Amino acid sequence: MHRRILAPGALAAASLLLAIPASAASSAPGAPGIGDPYYPQYGNGGYDVSHYDLRLQYQPKTDELQGTATILAKATQDLSSFDLDFLLDVSEVRVGGVKAAFTRSGEHELVVTPKTPLAKGTQVTVVVRYSGVPSTKSAYGFNTWHRTPDGAVAADEPEAAWWWFPSNDHPSDKATYDVSVAVPDGTQAISNGTLASTSSKLGWTRYNWRQDKPQATYLATLALGRFDITTSTSEGGVPVVNAYSKDLGANDGAARASVERTGELVDWLSGYFGPYPFSSAGGYVPNTTTGYALETQTRVYYSPKQFAAGSNTSVVVHELAHQWYGDDVSLKGWKDIWINEGFARYAQWLWSEHEGEGTTRELADYVYASHPADDPFWTVKPGDPGPDAQFDLAVYDRGALAVQALREKIGDDAFFALLKGWPKEHAYGNASVADFQKYAEQVSGKPLAALFDTWLFQPSKPEARGSASSARSLTAKAAQPKSWKKIEATNDVHAH
Ligand code: TRP
Ligand code: ZN
Repeated sequence: MHRRILAPGALAAASLLLAIPASAASSAPGAPGIGDPYYPQYGNGGYDVSHYDLRLQYQPKTDELQGTATILAKATQDLSSFDLDFLLDVSEVRVGGVKAAFTRSGEHELVVTPKTPLAKGTQVTVVVRYSGVPSTKSAYGFNTWHRTPDGAVAADEPEAAWWWFPSNDHPSDKATYDVSVAVPDGTQAISNGTLASTSSKLGWTRYNWRQDKPQATYLATLALGRFDITTSTSEGGVPVVNAYSKDLGANDGAARASVERTGELVDWLSGYFGPYPFSSAGGYVPNTTTGYALETQTRVYYSPKQFAAGSNTSVVVHELAHQWYGDDVSLKGWKDIWINEGFARYAQWLWSEHEGEGTTRELADYVYASHPADDPFWTVKPGDPGPDAQFDLAVYDRGALAVQALREKIGDDAFFALLKGWPKEHAYGNASVADFQKYAEQVSGKPLAALFDTWLFQPSKPEARGSASSARSLTAKAAQPKSWKKIEATNDVHAH
């Protein structure tokens, strides 16, 4: 009886519903953020990228970048729409070859609505055609695209990708990359991995770079400008590609005297961390006015300022250590930054000891003694510093102090097995501070909750350091190790 009073419109709607595949009924928009509490809008929900293919063209005179990104991804839920993080101007988006609707939202979201919803588990190809002048685009009022007199550079942390390719911008979604860039003859394009080939046509030279191991979006880098490129192979067999801006002026010699040590230092670090995880190593020094260095995967970014006071192998060791601690094993969430910076700083301490410029114990004593109990330094918790203190000096120095405390607690045999085992345990993946504690307990056979809590999670100065040295370092100020100034020179980022 009741059926009779159903309006014709309702009947039509009901049959329309039946015509839609089951996945569509349950499909929903992917979240605009991947769920990182430090940066709620960064990354996106609902899909996982496996590969970025970027085919670009760049004109240094005007800072115009144009190209096509082809993104291979898999839906991790039934998706009616999904976001990419991106700031340049988009002219077309295709999903599975079919034109998709797109719009902007929030600070850096490109919202893509495919013609038909994507069922969970679907492998999909997303093509984004775009162009724009990156130096004119900002989000949250900032822009990290670094213009230089002869081009530009994308290298920043955590935000760099938005200005040059659409992505799921969070380190937990790693992918492989092919980056192909055409620049006017005489200009070079530098990116991650190996230079597969170059070709020249009608005044443009195309550089084809390949990163064949998973890479976090913030570790993807692009430099466009006039560079001198050097190639070599380390004694241990790692191919090295470095690049120096032709306009480094007085810093040119010191930059080369540092970065040309890359092969030797990669081999030396392999002794502590295990085999180098990537098919190429190296660094580049563009003519930027920034002050920091960044561990961009296989091709480290160095500001010329890093070499303004002379050569510095310590900063090279720091960035190369990140290739294992940060790049090979990447953080799960941005709160896990200690896994990156605590260990990269500790590698500098190991290098200091190797160079006879102060042992790791002396450096730890010095850091411990240098900061009185009421120094705000001790209020930063390296194990979860919060977004505002993510790159605070304490994440580095207190972070390395924590590594030394761990070493003194579990002994050298377990400690060095741990240092080498970790990159193997989580090769090409992601891990958290909690994962590290668990692994350290497993390798050492010791419960370590109290030690991790004291050194990484308490907002106060630990009462004692080490066993033999604690009395001395509590009372007297330890002498400044010879390596200190060079280690400190790595800290430019904290000045921002
Ligand atoms: N991860 C870099 C290093 O220690 C430093 C860094 C922190 C940084 N924040 C940054 C670099 C912002 C560039 C931009 O090696
Ligand atoms: Zn670092």
